[in-house]
Amino acid sequence: KILAKTLFMGKKVIYLPTCHSTNDVATELIKSGAAQEGTIVITENQTAGKGQRGNTWYSEPKKNLTFSIILHPRYLTATDQFYLNIVASLAIYDVLSKYINHVKVKWPNDIYVKSKKIAGILIQNTIKSNRIEDSVLGIGLNINQQEFELESATSVFKETGIELDLQKVLEDLIQSLENNILKLRANNVTSLKEQYLSNLLGYEEERLFKSDSEFRGRIIGISKDGKLQIETFTGLKEFNFKEVSFL
Ligand code: BTN
Repeated sequence: KILAKTLFMGKKVIYLPTCHSTNDVATELIKSGAAQEGTIVITENQTAGKGQRGNTWYSEPKKNLTFSIILHPRYLTATDQFYLNIVASLAIYDVLSKYINHVKVKWPNDIYVKSKKIAGILIQNTIKSNRIEDSVLGIGLNINQQEFELESATSVFKETGIELDLQKVLEDLIQSLENNILKLRANNVTSLKEQYLSNLLGYEEERLFKSDSEFRGRIIGISKDGKLQIETFTGLKEFNFKEVSFL
């Protein structure tokens, strides 16, 4: 039972002790026509979690949050898809920042603490007549896990030594997400974008990037359709997800 004082987020929660991927369960639910706005699918043991770029998302059972939220953001066009990345990243950012300093959003939607990843987001949208008909917003957030195989991963516990109540963190997160989505619905996007940029890893700092070759540059913004804008010595360059990497 979710106790957050939300309007639509988490009013319906489907809890599964174990499942392959909450994103897949959410997608099935949408297909069956039984997915009201804000429905959450959550599991304590995700056995085949999906990450971006075809990666797998591994999370120790019962230690972390692995869940998916169903939305029907028909007020967004296909080119507006990146706003979903923004609202989700900011919600996670807000919650984690209560416990940890140095939380940053790594474009497009990874959450980092210094050089370690603490949360990931996998958004799967269905477009119909240029509108986002359905969206599955999958979030993996490392909370109480103590040890990681990957050197590059961390959790709230690893950073602070504090164990958190998963349910409280979830309630906090969905409240923050709902607030951001209400802004999005009201087309109040300027402040969302400003917040996203001000919490972005590497924003306005000169650093090394890797695309076809390596080059130096500075992230100066995000285009309307979510491309990373980098100022270089030879002019402004824009990159899609997968086209550029850095840290
Ligand atoms: C990434 O950083 O590559 C994205 C990771 C997303 C993981 C979450 S966990 C809950 C939801 N269900 C999935 O199968 N994946 C997402």
